Amino acid sequence: MIPRNAKLKSKEIRVPGDKSLSHRSVLFAALSKGKSKVTGFLEAEDPLNTMSAFTKLGLNAKKIAPGEYEFESPGKDKLISPNVDLDFGNAGTGIRLSAGLICGLSGVNAVLTGDDSLKKRPMGRIIKPLTSMGASIVGLGEKETAPLKIEGKKLASFRYESPIASAQIKSCLMLAAIASETELEYSENILSRDHTENMFRFLGNKIEYLSPLHFKISPPYFLNGGEFKVPGDISSAAFFLVLGVLAKEGTLLIQNIGLNPARTGILTALKLMGAKIEIENQRIECGEPVGDLRTYPSTLKKANIPEELIPSIIDEIPILSVAGLFSEGGFEIRHAEELRAKESDRIHTMVSNFRALGIDVEEFPDGYALDGTSKKSNEVWNTLSSGKKVPILSFMDHRIAMSFLILKALSGFALEIDETSWIETSFPGFETLLKDCLYE
Ligand code: S3P
Repeated sequence: MIPRNAKLKSKEIRVPGDKSLSHRSVLFAALSKGKSKVTGFLEAEDPLNTMSAFTKLGLNAKKIAPGEYEFESPGKDKLISPNVDLDFGNAGTGIRLSAGLICGLSGVNAVLTGDDSLKKRPMGRIIKPLTSMGASIVGLGEKETAPLKIEGKKLASFRYESPIASAQIKSCLMLAAIASETELEYSENILSRDHTENMFRFLGNKIEYLSPLHFKISPPYFLNGGEFKVPGDISSAAFFLVLGVLAKEGTLLIQNIGLNPARTGILTALKLMGAKIEIENQRIECGEPVGDLRTYPSTLKKANIPEELIPSIIDEIPILSVAGLFSEGGFEIRHAEELRAKESDRIHTMVSNFRALGIDVEEFPDGYALDGTSKKSNEVWNTLSSGKKVPILSFMDHRIAMSFLILKALSGFALEIDETSWIETSFPGFETLLKDCLYE
């Protein structure tokens, strides 16, 4: 296994606000007539792009303090067509959720676009069901990709059985139905994150559950604004959970983290691998569980990661794989073909970077496996420990860059990451916080 090199200062830290909730706070503020407020908003490129897009449709956003905004919207029926294309940068959540919402706004026309990574990501998964609701949405790129050209209109009530457990698809269709005051019945086979459902209920609406994974929403919808409190993002905390568990010494207390059960798969997976992490100070805020996480240096081993856990760890698989390099018996992830549809094809990006390190990795259509404990891998670790430089490619993907920066901190290997600016999309201040946690 990789020799563990990092010594941590025992510290209390915070990570930036939850990205999923930050996007949704803007979207529900835009749908609501009147004032809304948000604190803890993630001031990173992705959610700021969503905010900027909706100001072009008529939402007023006023910054009060860091992470604190007051919104005022004329209400969904009075939002207007933007006179420029809406740029969502790198954000799949931003573009897919906003596309749904805008499809349901009668008379609003818009073109939604993004950076080169976003323009490669699959949009057919929302275009198809939205079109069945009567929406006018066309992917202007090759193979139904962004830019997305939308002519908002009144949509029809719709029933959808999603073939993919995706909160982006679910939320896109919910927002389309809500914007258009129409009914939606939706089911999925494994629960994907349910923040849209929670925020919708927090605003005073009801969801009728026909079974745990099958629900219906029906108008009239209550959209009078709300005060949203966004906790720290567990997907960002995940990097420091792995750092804390695999350090040689020191405990970290990561405060104020969103602990929605559809997001805490990283805690389950790390615990299955033998990690000691404690939850403290649990509470409910704005309909979402929140708490503090304390890490202890732990000895990890390979664990079977069950298929049902995949949607709740989907963003954390790159950093979990780094933890796998330090686990007795290695690491294997399967049933995770959705990784190929993220900011980069994360199966390819993780496998190719691991191979650049010299590690034997087997690639599958839905995952990968490595045995970091063989004699051969010990030779690899020895070469890397002697200071061999290894170029790492981040593929325009923030989580790939952060995962390899954590590996570099834990191992002391001379990893040279080509570009780290993508980290600004979700975790401004990541490198400074990482440095602050480590003894030189
Ligand atoms: C998100 C849902 C997930 C996740 C993304 C954020 C959301 O995507 O990967 O980073 O906020 O709804 P899918 O649900 O499409 O897998």
